[in-house]
Amino acid sequence: MGQDQLKKEVGWSALKYVKPGSLVGVGTGSTAAHFIDALATIKHQIIGTVSSSESSTKKLKSYGIPVLDCNSVDSLDIYVDGADEINHHLQMIKGGGAALTREKVVSALAKQFICIVDESKVVDILGKFPLPIEVIPMARSYVARELFKLGGKPIYRQGVVTDNGNVILDIHDLVINEPMALENRINSIPGVVTVGLFANRRANIALVGTSTGVKEMK
Ligand code: 5RP
Repeated sequence: MGQDQLKKEVGWSALKYVKPGSLVGVGTGSTAAHFIDALATIKHQIIGTVSSSESSTKKLKSYGIPVLDCNSVDSLDIYVDGADEINHHLQMIKGGGAALTREKVVSALAKQFICIVDESKVVDILGKFPLPIEVIPMARSYVARELFKLGGKPIYRQGVVTDNGNVILDIHDLVINEPMALENRINSIPGVVTVGLFANRRANIALVGTSTGVKEMK
């Protein structure tokens, strides 16, 4: 089975975790897009959504699914999103689609984070996928030098501007043995908006699409 088929199966499988009357946080990316397709089939049963990107907002609205302003919401029942890597503690690297900051905000509001991935994303140690960092543009070179000291190779993602008007540095060649400590360390560098490590707020459940069906990791 191809990777997109696995993403589709796992995206649709998240639907059963969405209870009637829920406020739903919606992630970004190709797997989350399948979840939006599924969510459209129960759109009259939910209160609405909070979206993590302009692209997901556009897709949600195209289905007539209500999208609420994040500032008008105290908490969400559930947040459903993909990941670039996930370890067995359900800590993740996210931000391949440059939506990491809004993803972190929306997931922080959620009582439950359901991560939807195909099996290629499950790893023992995070870091093979380059770690995205959203940075304010004027701090790019300074932050890159600070990140270099951590032992990785920061590379400017050319031509990408985030929904918040910022830029992305991807750190290559990192072996992330202590995800929570690294998340805190990178977040403390002036000019960093968000690091794409989701370790302090990890997923509660991972749904993993495999060739033998969707498996649940807790
Ligand atoms: C976007 C993300 C995505 O969840 C991540 O990149 C996975 O994307 P896809 O489902 O397309 O493989 O973090 O910022």
